Parts: sequence; structure tokens; C-alpha cells
Amino acid sequence: LYHVLGAKQFAKEELEQLFDEAQAMEGIVARGGDRRHEGRIMTTLFFEASTRTRLSFESAMHRLGGSVIGTENAAQFSSAIKGETLEDTIRIISGYSDVFVMRHTEIGAAQRAAKVSGIPVINAGDGAGEHPTQALLDAYTIRKEFGKIDGLKIAMVGDLAYGRTVHSLSYILANYQDVMIYYISPDNVRIPDNVKKYLDEKGIRYQETNDLDSVAGTIDVLYQTRIQKERFPSLEEYEKASGQFIVDAELLSRMRKDTIVLHPLPRAGEITEEVDSDPRAAYFRQAVNGLYIRMALIDRCITQSQGK
Ligand code: CP
Repeated sequence: LYHVLGAKQFAKEELEQLFDEAQAMEGIVARGGDRRHEGRIMTTLFFEASTRTRLSFESAMHRLGGSVIGTENAAQFSSAIKGETLEDTIRIISGYSDVFVMRHTEIGAAQRAAKVSGIPVINAGDGAGEHPTQALLDAYTIRKEFGKIDGLKIAMVGDLAYGRTVHSLSYILANYQDVMIYYISPDNVRIPDNVKKYLDEKGIRYQETNDLDSVAGTIDVLYQTRIQKERFPSLEEYEKASGQFIVDAELLSRMRKDTIVLHPLPRAGEITEEVDSDPRAAYFRQAVNGLYIRMALIDRCITQSQGK
């Protein structure tokens, strides 16, 4: 079965093929979608809140002619609340549908699901672990905006400890030549050692700093993230991290004219609304790209798992 569990599973050749497929999906959406997966069913189970990921996956399946089932707020309205194990839930879903998209609170939940699943599993975020489909759309956005990823300087800013998107994006970027990653964060939410170890093994250059001003004028991509209040052990720890790095018009005035600002969204004040009208603010374009990447991923999961 073709599962999407983590970003390390993607090698460069597959990434480039996937991005080409996503580009083709843009044309298909412009023509109103197609019916290639008519009769197929996708299940979504989200044990954490979501706007973009769930709705873009659902839109993607509809655009491919398929249909979608799922519960609103799986933590409350699936039988998990009655004590059903994740494994039993997945066994049941395998009998009802053709592809399964799950967001869960626990790191590694998607891997657990895949072990017992009879259908492809897509990880839509596992706690503070990974968010591979977000990182794929982030990298697709970078390639679309610059025409390449090799050689770019990318600053990831904010909550790098709990921010699962930056973990996955780091693993994706590790496939490209001559990238330079700046990790800019408050001290209590620095990039985890396991991510740095992976980059070291791949020979990827990176630098940790808490000085955004010193790199703002040189980078190609500023990838801002939200400080994830819901994941901190205490309010005191959250308050230590919050409000330190804000992207506003003043910061933008010191950045290059061709630097882009990305954010996985939602934001909580770390990019001011005055930035939205600047052409360098690419985060809403980025969110739309999620539809095309997720169409390409659903298509791969279904077509590459047929007969398995
Ligand atoms: N970027 C992202 O995962 O957004 P949602 O939480 O709204 O799905």
C-alpha cells in the first residue's frame, strides 16, 4: 500500500514527479475536476482541529470524482470516546473506504494506523511530530514561486519544537542541493535534536539563532509559524515564547523585493494583517496549493495501492 506517513519517505525524484502531478491538477481544477475516482470513498478522522487540511483533502477527493465520509471532531464523536483503540477504528474504516486521512494527537499515530490498515493511510498531522502533506505543499509553493528549490536560503521562524510542519519541511528540503536553513526561535522552542541529526547525516547546512534581523535581508523564504499554545506544558512556558518574532511592514521594508513570506496557518498575530497586501505575502497562495498537492497524493494512494 502507498501510505503518506512522514516526510522522510520522499526522495527527490518522487518529489519532483509529485510536484509535476500537482501542477497537472491545477489544470484539472480549472476545468471543474474530473471523475477518475468515481465510486471511491475517502474517510477523514481528525482528532485535532483543522480548517485547511481537512477541507482541502475533502475538496481534493470531490474534485477527483470520489466521495468523503468522516466524523466531525473525531475525539468527541468517534467511538474512541467509548474506549475503542485506534487500531480497531482503523480496521473498521478499512472495510468502508479506499483511503484514510487522519490527524491525531499522538506522535507516531499514523505509523500505528498503517500497521493494521487495509487501505492507504495519509498522516494529516500527528501531535508535535510531523505534517508531511503540509511540507509537500510548502515545497511545491517554493518551487512554483522561484522555479527551483536548490540553492535557496530558508528561514523557519517561531515554534520550532512543537511546530510539526517545520520538522517535515526540513526533511523535504534535505533532498535539495545547496539549501541553507536558518532556525530562528525563542530558546524554549528550538528545533529538536533529531531534526538536526537528520540534516547532519544528509550534509545540509543550517544555523540556529534568535536574531531574525540579521538574516531578514538575505533570505529567499521566511517561513513563519504560530507559537502553539495548546502544546505547552504550562502557560508560563508559552508566555516565554510568545510575541518574540512578528512579521510586519517594518520587517518587510528591510527584506529583499523577491523574498516570499510563507506560513502554514492559522496565524495568531505573528504576521500582521498589513503584510497581506504585499505581493511577497505568499501564505494564501500557499494554502490554495494544498488542494493540488492533496489531489496528487490521493491519486497516488489509490492508483499505486490497487490490487495490493
Ligand atoms: N496548516 C494546517 O494544518 O492548517 P489546519 O490546522 O487548519 O488544517
